[in-house]
Amino acid sequence: QAGVFTYDPGFTSTASCDSTITFIDGEKGELLHRGYPIDQLASKSHFLEVCFLLLYGNLPTSEQLEDFENRVTSHTMLHEQMQYFFRGFRRDAHPMAVMVGVVGAMSAFYHDSTDISDPWQREVASIRLIAKMPTIAAWAYKYSIGQPFVYPRNDLDYASNFLRMCFSVPAEDYVANPILSRAMDRIFTLHADHEQNASTSTVRLASSSGANPFACIAAGIACLWGPAHGGANQACLEMLREIGTPDRIPEYIARAKDKNDPFRLMGFGHRVYKNHDPRATVMKQSADEVLDLLGIENNPTLQTAKELERIALEDDYFREKKLFPNVDFYSGIILDAMGFPQSMFTPIFAVARTVGWISQWKEQISDPQHKIGRPRQLYLGETARDYVDVEKR
Ligand code: SDX
Repeated sequence: QAGVFTYDPGFTSTASCDSTITFIDGEKGELLHRGYPIDQLASKSHFLEVCFLLLYGNLPTSEQLEDFENRVTSHTMLHEQMQYFFRGFRRDAHPMAVMVGVVGAMSAFYHDSTDISDPWQREVASIRLIAKMPTIAAWAYKYSIGQPFVYPRNDLDYASNFLRMCFSVPAEDYVANPILSRAMDRIFTLHADHEQNASTSTVRLASSSGANPFACIAAGIACLWGPAHGGANQACLEMLREIGTPDRIPEYIARAKDKNDPFRLMGFGHRVYKNHDPRATVMKQSADEVLDLLGIENNPTLQTAKELERIALEDDYFREKKLFPNVDFYSGIILDAMGFPQSMFTPIFAVARTVGWISQWKEQISDPQHKIGRPRQLYLGETARDYVDVEKR
């Protein structure tokens, strides 16, 4: 139940909401989606089935899954006029800036699914967002590199369609290797939802004002962009590249411990997990698979990452602070090996997290008592005082 609990700073805070979607046990390093452990979903399920689970509460029958996948597949195209919205951005705009703008603008293009009081419109908006996010992310990427937009195809699975829209060119079609498609699908699954993280709380807060689903998801995308949250996968790879070789790791470990140095080890630590991030374990296995497939298992960045993880996990400071690799530590290495630029790492996180945002948005608006409403504050400022004319100040 939403309740009151106290924590370190000595003041009380209230749980922002109650939910039935995702459970995290930070001490045990446990993550459940509607009761199913993430490691089982990552190894036995696939992203669209996990989407069904998050949206509707149970694993689908084969008929339900086929119907759901067909509904998503038939909504992957964007309104043709939307391409001109992309063209309004500078070519060097960060893809996250484009995604915030384009998803917010969907309120104007798909205004027949913005009335949140209509269950049918809520459902259509949910399917449209899950279906169109890969197209939006892929088109943001294509626009940034000056290549033509690639349209989705209905004969490809969700992950393969996304990879093709990113890497196909008119001169040469791209057919995703099944191992890369599986790794991409697993990255989507591992990022699908994560309880009341910053961007999900943003979506819930926006939804409590009655804002339409596209506006709420655009707000979530904007929040995810931050380097302490969804931007960490990009920041982590940049850090590993800056470290370069394993012999320079001690210098960065020392910086991470230095209270006078704002530097933090990107991809390490978590607000909730105080033991290990179960998603990082699966992500590390995927990194090995992808790099083995590509014949770059000796990728220097991966070697530096593994050595950094080994040193940090043996270090008393990191053990005491309960710092360990999180979901973002290995994801950037996989995406880089697949051929994505760092600027696409967070957009891919946003594609995956859309189903989590939508599921939590639907839960938030389905029952008024869920309202986050209006958080209160602990006022620490001046007490009441009278105005003083400028001549007397
Ligand atoms: C995500 O909430 C979610 O669920 C988010 C997410 C999701 O799926 O939505 O899991 C995705 O955002 C993962 C986190 C990605 N961010 C990073 O990797 C950026 C680097 N990590 C941090 O900035 C940091 O660890 C946070 C923001 C993730 C957590 O910060 P906290 O809450 O301050 O961490 P903490 O309370 O556990 O910190 C304890 C101590 C602090 O020192 P003291 O003030 O007690 O002296 O450890 C220090 C922190 O300063 N610390 C770090 C550190 N993270 C925390 N020191 C060095 N390097 C780090 N990465």
